[in-house]
Amino acid sequence: MPVSYLKISGVRNLQTPEFFPSSRINIISGANGSGKTSILEAIHFLSTTRSFRTHEIRHLLTQGQSSALVFSRVHDNEQLRPLGVEKHLTGEIRVRFDGNSLDSAALASLLPVQVLYSGTFELLDGSPSTRRQFIDWGCFHDDPIFISLWRGFRRALKQRNSLLKYGKINPLQMQVWDSEFLSFGEKLTAHRRAYIDKLRPEFIRILQILLQDVEVELGFYSGWDSKRSLEAVLADQSAREIQQGFTLSGPQRADIRFRCGSVNAADRLSRGQKKLVVSALRLAQGLVYRNETNRPCIYLVDDLPSELDEPHARLFCQFLEQSQDQCFITCVEPDSILKFWSPDTDLALFHLDAGSLSIR
Ligand SMILES: Nc1ncnc2c1ncn2[C@@H]1O[C@H](COP(=O)(O)OP(=O)(O)O)[C@@H](O)[C@H]1O
Ligand SMILES: [Mg+2]
Repeated sequence: MPVSYLKISGVRNLQTPEFFPSSRINIISGANGSGKTSILEAIHFLSTTRSFRTHEIRHLLTQGQSSALVFSRVHDNEQLRPLGVEKHLTGEIRVRFDGNSLDSAALASLLPVQVLYSGTFELLDGSPSTRRQFIDWGCFHDDPIFISLWRGFRRALKQRNSLLKYGKINPLQMQVWDSEFLSFGEKLTAHRRAYIDKLRPEFIRILQILLQDVEVELGFYSGWDSKRSLEAVLADQSAREIQQGFTLSGPQRADIRFRCGSVNAADRLSRGQKKLVVSALRLAQGLVYRNETNRPCIYLVDDLPSELDEPHARLFCQFLEQSQDQCFITCVEPDSILKFWSPDTDLALFHLDAGSLSIR
């Protein structure tokens, strides 16, 4: 659902900007430190109640402020509805949509965002948890049942780990949590595998266009030897688990393996190539989401031209243009990317100067 109005208060250096973005392409330019990434952070906060740059709310809040508030109007079923997200220094969160309170899962499904910024390289060379979050984003938006499987699995894993950690294992209790762990774990994994199978052809197709001379394979690792059942693996490892004090194998270890031939893609690709691979993944994820739900995503693309040469930046912009998604794109110098859009694109251009936003 595109956002048609935004007012941002209490976020970093931003001087309470208030603006009406285009429902398609928004380009926000400004010098280093003018607040470009902060604008994207504020939109991400509206969608998730979190920043993508920091886990600590105090860093997101303007120094000296006790809360951040992003207020918006979003298109929903041909109507504009108010959505506001407020978070206090204490961690307290208030989300109001059209007069009602929303929890974070309802908010995430209302306003799905995809972010591309300097940290998104982590999807290739960061820890597996980043890639699990990526898969689970897709599963969450793919099927409403996924969140209950995920919560059930987390609970069983936590209980199992706590029994293993304290070493006083009551076999009956362990049996109960083993059975929950297996049941939720197998179902959760089936969703993850099916999602990757849906994503893979779109990813390969988009990557072939963005990066003609490189092939990247995308493999799913379930978190245990998939030739065997999770139950058999668990039974085999039980002595070692008691020794080590935590669950060794299972969906909590799931991962995506990116390979160029026989080599790990993270060790082979240049930074520009990595940016295009991650962009292809995010574009594919948005496309699968749109195919399934018939709804657009919001793309937040920080410093689009960095690391990309002109032909690749142009291809990337063409993809964004052809999608039906709402895009917020930042750059230092707007002329570097303004030439990439066709004249009939619904495009809005904004400029930031020391936290103050103006229309160009
Ligand atoms: N909590 C904060 N309170 C006030 N200003 C901040 C805070 N955090 C960062 N800043 C300042 O906000 C400015 C904008 O940062 P940023 O959004 O990263 O700019 P850009 O992406 O345009 O380079 C920087 O000058 C930074 O020093
Ligand atoms: Mg920035």
